[in-house]
Amino acid sequence: MSIVDEIEAKQNITLEQLQYLLDGNEADYLKQRAVAVRERIYGKDVYIRGLIEFTNYCRNNCYYCGIRRGNKIIERYRLSQEGILACCGEGYRLGFRTFVLQGGEDEYYTDDRICQLIGDIKASYPDCAVTLSIGEKSRGSYEAYFKAGADRYLLRHETADAGHYKTLHPREMSLTNRKECLYNLKDIGYQVGAGFMVGSPGQSVATLYEDMQFLRELNPHMVGIGPFIPQHDTPMGDKAAGTVDMTVTLLSIIRLLLPRVLLPATTALGTIDPIGREKGLQAGANVVMPNLSPREFREKYAIYDKKICTGEEAAECIECLKKRVGNIGYSIVCDRGDYKVGE
Ligand code: 5AD
Ligand code: FES
Repeated sequence: MSIVDEIEAKQNITLEQLQYLLDGNEADYLKQRAVAVRERIYGKDVYIRGLIEFTNYCRNNCYYCGIRRGNKIIERYRLSQEGILACCGEGYRLGFRTFVLQGGEDEYYTDDRICQLIGDIKASYPDCAVTLSIGEKSRGSYEAYFKAGADRYLLRHETADAGHYKTLHPREMSLTNRKECLYNLKDIGYQVGAGFMVGSPGQSVATLYEDMQFLRELNPHMVGIGPFIPQHDTPMGDKAAGTVDMTVTLLSIIRLLLPRVLLPATTALGTIDPIGREKGLQAGANVVMPNLSPREFREKYAIYDKKICTGEEAAECIECLKKRVGNIGYSIVCDRGDYKVGE
């Protein structure tokens, strides 16, 4: 039995096996098995999520992130409720049935305002899923958003190694709190997304091994991974970016460990390689998340440098993606794209 077959059969991986695959061994076979698993469950469908980056104000100061509060150079913006609803309207017209509200931890957006927003979107588009990606909140806040109609929540854990976590974040943030948020979200009933950056400063095979074990334990519905890309106005602005190969290998491994997981080919992957997202889809990913934010604000949501699609309208991106996805034999579908539960 090859190492890849063993990982697929056990839905588990050892540190040695992870090292072996990250060294590039059995790379083609790994992708082939990941694609087979993905197609067994999701066929050739690619789900889309409309991303609305509605505020770049953030109270946090993560060392890698361009919208950290310590970045005094970027221009801050926030979309109004009407602006956000207009994005949803355009997205709906284009075939989106999931809206992801992503933003920094912006205190202007109180729980009441977030709940109001969710309620308005759900009232206008009852057939759509609403996903939140607004960071660490109390259990009570998460419960309130869920009651208001939110379906899903994305909160990347960033790294499952407590020491590594400390080197990426200021003192006031902790892995313990991050994990507690994720378990609360799951317990409340959200479809939950975790994830991490590939090639973040200080990452090692050992920390990645912990990521794999944490993902198995949490068993989230979604896992978002993309390469770390330095942002020039952050303390990590001179660090090296993560690589396509490593990202693609990890996507395939995650597909084998969590066969049913929703796995996006991320914008960051498309940023470090012109066909990065295609490579991700050909390694087991099954979701893409184009931007629905108004074009005038896109450049300002600069979490990392040279982000793609800042000059395109939502309609242009969806056309572009339909072609790209079609070229590799997959097709974009216009439904909510929920997690498929096993029989
Ligand atoms: N490079 C790549 N990804 C980043 N993120 C934040 N900063 C960067 C960066 N410099 C990711 C984090 C966060 C998500 C919204 O974006 O993983 O959870
Ligand atoms: Fe935005 Fe291709 S997806 S231009």
